[in-house]
Amino acid sequence: MSETLLYEGKAKKVFTTDDGNVLLHRYKDDATAFDGQKRGSWKDKGKTNATMSAAIFAYLETHGVPTHFVEQVDDTSIKTKRLEMLPVEVIARNVAAGSLAKRLGYEEGTQLKAPIIELCYKDDDLGDPMLNWYHFRELGVSDEDLEFCEELGLKVNGILAPFFDERGIILVDFKIEVGRDENGNLMLGDEISPDTCRFWDKETGEKLDKDRFRRDMGGVEEAYAEMLRRVTEITQRGAVD
Ligand code: TMP
Ligand code: ASP
Repeated sequence: MSETLLYEGKAKKVFTTDDGNVLLHRYKDDATAFDGQKRGSWKDKGKTNATMSAAIFAYLETHGVPTHFVEQVDDTSIKTKRLEMLPVEVIARNVAAGSLAKRLGYEEGTQLKAPIIELCYKDDDLGDPMLNWYHFRELGVSDEDLEFCEELGLKVNGILAPFFDERGIILVDFKIEVGRDENGNLMLGDEISPDTCRFWDKETGEKLDKDRFRRDMGGVEEAYAEMLRRVTEITQRGAVD
């Protein structure tokens, strides 16, 4: 198979494949936070992010969400459709944490009355600022695409919040990205992992996501392994039942 490195990011490498419409994403054990100021690495991070993304994309597909997922190739790699990404990060929130807790002056952990969707401009140099529809129109993103993003954020949240609840996890918030395939169809892209979601244990409140790294809490390797276990073990048992 002819693989050419197309892009190397902080946490993954993306390669072309023999099929011009298919890419290979290989997840690394490396992490950064705060726009690259903080760096780290831990064992099996790439495995967790690839395997969890694969399991969740497959689950979302069975619930009517179009995604870029094609197949998991090995522990750390997945194949996806090649997408033209929108310059948008869609954040969905159920519980106040992180930047929303600061923005609203809420204590972290405050349950929101209804899910909140935020749209951010995907631009590292600008720090991915939250923008409104007027700003996005100025940047050339259509109302139709923005509507798709907001609806997708709500739909994915409506499917994944109960999925994680069954696994003893509160889905506090998460970030997704959207792109267009070669036929012009919009769909969910990127990854869904402890890098891009906040997961809190329902019983203990323990954080099981990248905040352990961002906030120097320790136990990050164990937290990722625990999330992988909760997603894959129950998914496999569910498949046998
Ligand atoms: P925030 O509270 O820092 O705005 O983060 C909201 C959610 O988005 C949280 O689940 C982490 C995720 N996120 C990313 O995936 N990438 C990012 O660059 C940032 C800032 C947040
Ligand atoms: N924006 C952060 C980074 O530089 C991502 C994060 O904190 O999750 O990688």
